[in-house]
Amino acid sequence: MVIKMTEPLKLGVLISGSGSNLQSIIDNIEKDTLKAVIKIVISNNKHALGLERAQKHGLSVAVLQHEHFKTREDFDTELIRILKDYEIDLVVLAGFMRILTPVFLRAFPQKIMNIHPALLPSFRGTHGQKNAYEYGVKFSGCTVHFVNEGVDDGPIIIQSVVPVLQNDTEESLACRILKEEHRIYPRAIQLFAEGRLKITGRKVQVNNAEEIDEIALHNPALAGF
Ligand code: GAR
Repeated sequence: MVIKMTEPLKLGVLISGSGSNLQSIIDNIEKDTLKAVIKIVISNNKHALGLERAQKHGLSVAVLQHEHFKTREDFDTELIRILKDYEIDLVVLAGFMRILTPVFLRAFPQKIMNIHPALLPSFRGTHGQKNAYEYGVKFSGCTVHFVNEGVDDGPIIIQSVVPVLQNDTEESLACRILKEEHRIYPRAIQLFAEGRLKITGRKVQVNNAEEIDEIALHNPALAGF
């Protein structure tokens, strides 16, 4: 799918918590490194700090408490209504801790992105950083992907790798990963805005991607080997 955009990409951002990824998207829009506009921020949690961040930047916000809906489909139908009202081009899940139903996915085919704090397909689910830490991997990272009907399963757009250091705690690792989330999410959205992402089956082709093929990472370092 190639979308040529002349106007800034219209985003609907869905959050549940702190909203630091939302903040990095806002910051990149304000720096003009991301040619997009946030039309609406929606939270399923009325206490989400991200709502305050959004309001501070004059963005429209909506709270949609899932506990007020009988079924997941009812909740998703209301979400769709709001997002369609704002004529959004891309749905950005930024720490949105709720599984969306096929009703929602069908309303925005190939137009929903998510960020996950692990190197998918490893450590899916709600505690990506903790699970990677406890497993003892030497590298972890984060992934931006399109959303499909599986959980943390859709075609991968971009990943960032970070080392897990001997003295790391779960928190220090999560912090290292989060810094990278803040870099790759705006980048993925900008690639979409430029019409450079083409999905074929499970694969996302990035047109004119800058790639490096002479790099391998080792942790611990190879020390002369
Ligand atoms: C981020 O680490 C994001 O990757 C994660 O929630 C955090 C939200 O932080 N998302 C998931 O785990 C989804 N499976 P934020 O609210 O500060 O952006």
